[in-house]
Amino acid sequence: MGAGPAGLTLARLLELAGVETVVLENRTREYCERRIRAGVLEQRTADLLREIGVGVRMDREGIVHHGIHLQFDGERHHVPLSELAGGRTIVIYGQTEVVKDLIAARIESGLPLHFECEVESVDPERGIIRHSGGEVECEVIAGCDGFHGVCRDAIPAGVLRTFAREYPFGWLGILAKVAPSMDELVYTHHERGFALLSLRSPRLSRYYLQVSHDEDVAEWHDERIWDELQLRTALDGWTLHEGPIVEKAVTGMRSFVAEPMQSGRLHLAGDAAHIVPPTGAKGLNLAIADVRVLAEAIVDGGLEHYSQHCLRRVWRAEHFSYWMTTMLHRLPGDDPFDVQLQLSQLRYTTTSQAAARSLAENYVGLDVV
Ligand code: FAD
Ligand code: PHB
Repeated sequence: MGAGPAGLTLARLLELAGVETVVLENRTREYCERRIRAGVLEQRTADLLREIGVGVRMDREGIVHHGIHLQFDGERHHVPLSELAGGRTIVIYGQTEVVKDLIAARIESGLPLHFECEVESVDPERGIIRHSGGEVECEVIAGCDGFHGVCRDAIPAGVLRTFAREYPFGWLGILAKVAPSMDELVYTHHERGFALLSLRSPRLSRYYLQVSHDEDVAEWHDERIWDELQLRTALDGWTLHEGPIVEKAVTGMRSFVAEPMQSGRLHLAGDAAHIVPPTGAKGLNLAIADVRVLAEAIVDGGLEHYSQHCLRRVWRAEHFSYWMTTMLHRLPGDDPFDVQLQLSQLRYTTTSQAAARSLAENYVGLDVV
C-alpha cells in the first residue's frame, strides 16, 4: 500500500523475484510525481536502484558528491565523506525523480498500480485490504502508506509501542531557478537559526531555513527568504546567487518510531513505521533499506525477524538525525549553554578524525549497526 519510494521499490524487487503484487495509492500519478521531498541518496540506495533497473536516468542526471560542508562561527569546514567512509559517495537526485522512474518501470511492465484508490482498512490476521474499489486478499501486506496512512493503526493497541519527539521548529524549503552557489551541501549553524544549501541540478537550487513549526509560508515573500538566507550563510569571499523561487513550503520536524513493524501478515515500511527530522537526509534511504529487507524475507523466508532486523538500523538513523538536528538548530529557550555545547561539538566534528569519521559513516549509511 502506497506508491511512495518504499511501496514502489518493494513492488519492483518482488516483480524481479517473480512474486505477484498489487500497488494501491490514494493520490493521482501527477501528485505522486510532483511532491517535492528528499534529495540525497546514500550509495547503497543508488546501488539498489541500479540493481533493479531504474538507475539509468539517475546515473545521467544525478550529481555525485564526496563531501559536505559544516558552517559555524563565520567559517565553512569541509567534511570529506568519501575519504572518511571507505570511498562511499552520495548522489544528489530528487525523490520526485526516483518516484517517476519507479512508476514508469511499473507501467512498462504492465503490472497493477492503482492510483486514486484509497485504502480504508486492513485486517492483519486475515490479510485483507479494504479499499475504495473493493477488497484484496494477500499473503503479505506491505504498509508503505507513509506517516498519515492507515496501516500502522491496524497493529493491535496492546502490541504497538510508539516513541516520539516533536521539535518546536520546522523548515521552510524553497526551490529556486538559479545555479547552486556551492560545490557541495552546506549545513549552517547561525544565531538566527539553521540554514541548508542543497541542490537538485546544475540549474536548480534547493535551500532551507529553520522557521517556527507553525510558520505561515504566506509571511515569507521571496525577498525576505533571500535576505534571511544571505544573513545565515554569509561568508567572506563567497556569494549566494539569487533567482526566481518556483516552490516554497514549510515542513514540520519530528522523530517517531513504531515497534514492532509487523503484526500477522502486515509489515510496515518507511514513513509508516518511522520518521526522522530531515537534517541527516535519512528518511528516503531508511524507507529503501526497509523494503530491501522485506523483499528478501518474502522471497527467502525469515519474515518473522523483519521488524527486529530493521529496527537496529532505524534507531541508529534516529539517533544520527536527532544529533545533527540538535547540533545545528537554534533550540527553544535560546540558552547560551546549549549554544556553547553546539559550537564545541561542531569544532570537534571538524577537527577530530574520529569525530568526523563518525559523522561520515552515518551520513553515507552504515551497513552493520
Ligand atoms: P511516502 O513517500 O509518504 O509514501 C506513502 C504513499 O502512501 C504516498 O504516496 C501516499 O499518498 C500513500 N497513502 C497514504 N495513505 C494511503 C491510503 N490510505 N491508501 C492508499 N495510499 C495511501 N527526507 C529527507 O531525507 N530529506 C528531505 O528533505 C525530506 N523532506 C520531506 C518533506 C515532507 C513534506 C515530508 C512529508 C517528508 C520529507 N522527507 C524528507 C522524508 C522522505 O520524503 C520520506 O522519508 C519518504 O517519502 C518515505 O517514503 P515512503 O514511501 O515510506 O512514504
Ligand atoms: C534536500 O536536498 O532536499 C536535502 C538535502 C539534505 C538534507 C535534507 C534535504 O539533510
